[in-house]
Amino acid sequence: MGKNIDTDKFINQHLKMNNFFTDGFIVKGKLDMQNQTDTNQTDSDIAAKNEQLRELADQIEKCRKCPLGSSRTNAVPGEGNPNAQIMFVGEGPGADEDAQGKPFVGRAGKLLDKILAASGLKKKDVYIGNILKCRPPENRDPKPDEITNCLPYLQQQIEIINPEIIIALGAHAARTLLDTTKPIGQLRGQFHQYYAGLGKPAVKLMPTYHPAYLLRNYSKDNRRKVWEDMKSVLEELNLPIPKH
Ligand code: URA
Repeated sequence: MGKNIDTDKFINQHLKMNNFFTDGFIVKGKLDMQNQTDTNQTDSDIAAKNEQLRELADQIEKCRKCPLGSSRTNAVPGEGNPNAQIMFVGEGPGADEDAQGKPFVGRAGKLLDKILAASGLKKKDVYIGNILKCRPPENRDPKPDEITNCLPYLQQQIEIINPEIIIALGAHAARTLLDTTKPIGQLRGQFHQYYAGLGKPAVKLMPTYHPAYLLRNYSKDNRRKVWEDMKSVLEELNLPIPKH
């Protein structure tokens, strides 16, 4: 009998853990989605940003500054709301992204979708980009010269979108944008400043674990840490925090 109760408890705990970042969040209260974009921008401002991002995407597609431009199937410039308050930055395209030309559409992307949904955010309201715009073969780590060649594209995207907060997904994004070699475990959990250059305003940056890392290390503790990071971002933007 006692054994059965323990089994039920175990199954319940397992289900609860599985639902965290899947579909187990009950969203209490009305979420004000309007707040996820900068409402001071006019339609023509947004159209201009769209055009600038499109021009940049054309340049990225033609780019052959490094061999990745020739080995990839599709460039993955980035996607989302040109007026987003929140910009996610990952490492670089994987096989699925390379095949479709869109960021975060593979397994890690599905988890990112769940993180967004759990945070009360809609994909169409945020912008999602990467440090590298072309897939490194076999999903190896980006090389320093590849980052050096590709980074100006992301810097221009950040300048055009002008987000209030950047969420750096994983060590490569966080270290590159913060120009540090510190481990992601030390960087995450607090806001940092991303400096775009002299005379340009700094942007708040929250590093967190990459969804691919989370998939490989799917512990309750790691998911809690990502949720804490997301909550800090929502709080900072005065967005409602879903209860779960
Ligand atoms: N991982 C990344 O870092 N970026 C993607 O676009 C997909 C997976």
